[in-house]
This record gives sequence, structure tokens and C-alpha cells, in this order.
Amino acid sequence: MQIVRTVAEVRAAVRAARAAGHRVGFVPTMGALHDGHLSLVTLARDQGAAFVVVSVFVNPTQFGPNEDFAAYPRDLDGDADKLRSVRADVVFFPDVETIYPRGAETRVSLDALPKHLCGLDRPHHFGGVATVVTGLMNIVQPDLAVFGEKDFQQLQVIRRLVRDLHLPVEIVGAPIARETDGLAMSSRNAYLSPDERRRALALSKALAGAQAAADAGVRDPRQLEAAMRAVCEASGGQVDYAAVVDPDTLDPATSLPARALVAVRFGRTRLIDNAALS
Ligand code: PAF
Repeated sequence: MQIVRTVAEVRAAVRAARAAGHRVGFVPTMGALHDGHLSLVTLARDQGAAFVVVSVFVNPTQFGPNEDFAAYPRDLDGDADKLRSVRADVVFFPDVETIYPRGAETRVSLDALPKHLCGLDRPHHFGGVATVVTGLMNIVQPDLAVFGEKDFQQLQVIRRLVRDLHLPVEIVGAPIARETDGLAMSSRNAYLSPDERRRALALSKALAGAQAAADAGVRDPRQLEAAMRAVCEASGGQVDYAAVVDPDTLDPATSLPARALVAVRFGRTRLIDNAALS
């Protein structure tokens, strides 16, 4: 596994892989890797990428002023070991000035998708994600890129920008990796106290409850939202949203099938989860 830090090094590695006839897969991450991230590397291979590049970059532009950019967990050596175990080919560890050259002033922004759900509390977040992902795609120039469905709104933002800007890359959404008790894997789970970790199960329970209610005949999205909110509130978490939306526009759903999403804070930790509602 090659560990590289510059744009020229990534491009040289990708050029050599293409010359050898390999399809190139890309998994962008912010590090603090867990099994969910590693499953993205495996999925890239399953989708036909014989050569997989993983970036590890904690992107400052997607954090608001009072968010956890400085505290975000960083473990470059641990991440490299984990990526070796799943046979990633290249790890790209850029510094901030490699991604945002001095004097950088170009931003990628979307009009509507960021104005829903997580974007309401984090108004700059998706602009930062769209900008860094566009830059990373231009650096790596992969054939396919894998993003987890846990960040469902992010996945839709990326699908939209790739479509709108005609980026020549296939976007693959990866199923949410869960702990055995159902908690969606997240780098931020590391912040939870044992008590918060137990209460955090409310998110996956609320989503499962919504599907069970839909199966039992409850088809009104507003009623399903109220039921999910009640489960999350009963855990003592502070609910940012419990929503049933159209998966493409993220507007409130008027019927099923739809996507159910929840965001709940436990202390200083904000967790998200979602599921398809059939
Ligand atoms: O999902 C993440 O880890 C980040 O938002 C991403 C896509 C790597 C962009 O910084």
C-alpha cells in the first residue's frame, strides 16, 4: 500500500493502475476509520475496482465555527494499518494547503438539497462537502467512488453534483454498517459515554418501529414521523429531526415508499441514521 501526500503522487499511481488495465475506485474519508469505512473499500472492489484509493482528510470547510473540527478524532497510523488489512492500494493523506491551495476562493454549492434536514442546523456543511469532494474527484479521477448511505443527504448531494457537473464517475451507495445491537457505525460514536451509547439505540429502534408501523398499515408520513420522534425523545436525546422524505428531493414525503431519517444529540454528540421505508 502506497501512502502519498501530493496531487502528483496520487495521479502518478492512478495513471500506472490505468495503464495496467485496472478500474480505479475511490473512497473519500475523514479518517478515524471503523469497519463501516473498511466495508466501502471492499464494496469498491466488489464493484469491479481492482485498484482502490482512499483519502483521509478532515475537511475544515464542512465544519461550522462551533463544531468539532479541532476535536475530530485523528489516527493516521491506525488508519493506515486498517487500510492495509483490506488491501487498499493507495492512501492519500493531503494537508490543508494541498486541497485548498493558498488563496483558494472557489466553492461548489447546491441550491435546494442542503436546505433540508442536517443542512438546517449546519448551513455551511454541504457546501464544504461538495467543494472538497469535487476537488478530490478531480485529483483522483476515479471510475467509481463509494459513499455510505448513513450520510444519506450527503450521498444525494454528491449524486446531484456529479450529475449536474457531468463528472465522469459512477457513484456507489453503500449499505449502513451497524454494530451487532443495531447502532449505525460512526467515528463520532467514540464520543459517547456508556450511558449515551445505550440510549443511542433509540435511533435504529425508531427507524425499525416506523417500518413495522408501515407494515401494519400506517401510511401517513406525518404519523410515522411523530412515532419516530417519540421513540427518540423517550431516550432523553435532543431530537434535531425525525423526518420521512422523498429520497430524491428530500422534501417531506406525501406517501410511501420514502426515506426515514433521524438526527439526535446525546450531550455534545450528534448522531444520524436512516432507512428506506417501504
Ligand atoms: O463522509 C465523510 O467522511 C466526508 O463528509 C467526506 C465525504 C469524506 C468529505 O469530507
